[in-house]
Amino acid sequence: MSDRYAVFGNPINHSKSPQIHAAFAVQTGEAVEYSAQCIDEDQFEASVEAFFREGGKGLNITVPFKQRAWTMAQWRSPAAERAGAVNTLYMNEQGQLCGDNTDGIGLVCDLENHRTRLQGARVLILGAGGAVRGVLEPFLSAGAAQIVIANRTASKAHELAQAFGDLGVVSGCGFKEIDPAPFDLVLNGTSASLQGDLPPIPVDVVARRTTCYDMMYGAKQTPFCAWSAAAGSGKVMDGLGMLVEQAAESFRIWRGVKPQTAEVIEVIRRQLS
Ligand code: ATR
Repeated sequence: MSDRYAVFGNPINHSKSPQIHAAFAVQTGEAVEYSAQCIDEDQFEASVEAFFREGGKGLNITVPFKQRAWTMAQWRSPAAERAGAVNTLYMNEQGQLCGDNTDGIGLVCDLENHRTRLQGARVLILGAGGAVRGVLEPFLSAGAAQIVIANRTASKAHELAQAFGDLGVVSGCGFKEIDPAPFDLVLNGTSASLQGDLPPIPVDVVARRTTCYDMMYGAKQTPFCAWSAAAGSGKVMDGLGMLVEQAAESFRIWRGVKPQTAEVIEVIRRQLS
């Protein structure tokens, strides 16, 4: 009998997680069955409780339930605690519901796979929403020397910088106030491309050595990736690797085995096009 896992979200029909976890199960030989479930907004807590009561082993949580999963968790990892959001749930041996957030570590792993070092790096992060909040603790733990958060609504960037200021050198500003000098890494964490927009930032933040990373991904090159290549970045990446890496980290938490990701990323990339 396989152990049961699932992702809960709403909507959920575009989720790649079932394919990713099925590939991990084959690769590692773990007896895992993983489904995607669309959960009614008013049924989230009851559905989580029922899933574990009926023997389910672990859940991934996606939009719009990550904050509610955080509230439900009786124990949270440091990354989840700081993120204010949980994307991975499981029961520990004491029967406590435990919450983790693997989005940030997924991004850090994807950067490491592509030989982008965070240790000592100057990082510009665009956006100050939930996606960005989730990566700040892992970035600072990985040794980023300086993080500048720039956002359309500058006050949100300031608030976020203040909330993480005890962990390292973090500042906030509006797009117009960005220091126009090259960074080691420029990360797009805005949802601007969903509206076909691009954050208005100076090209001077990009040099040949700058890695540009878009947390979004799609069948076509994202607007931010296209902009980054035109601005002269020598390394441009989208968020597909992060998606597979965060899944691998959830799998490791649940099963104690970390799957290899390179082939799975390639397979999912082919399916997008
Ligand atoms: P998520 O959970 O994906 O981070 P979110 O919390 O709604 O979503 O945050 C979206 C982020 O994208 C915010 O930083 C938002 O800027 P504001 O705080 O000013 O709203 C940013 N964003 C969304 N649309 C944008 C656009 N057209 N141009 C620039 N930034 C945009």
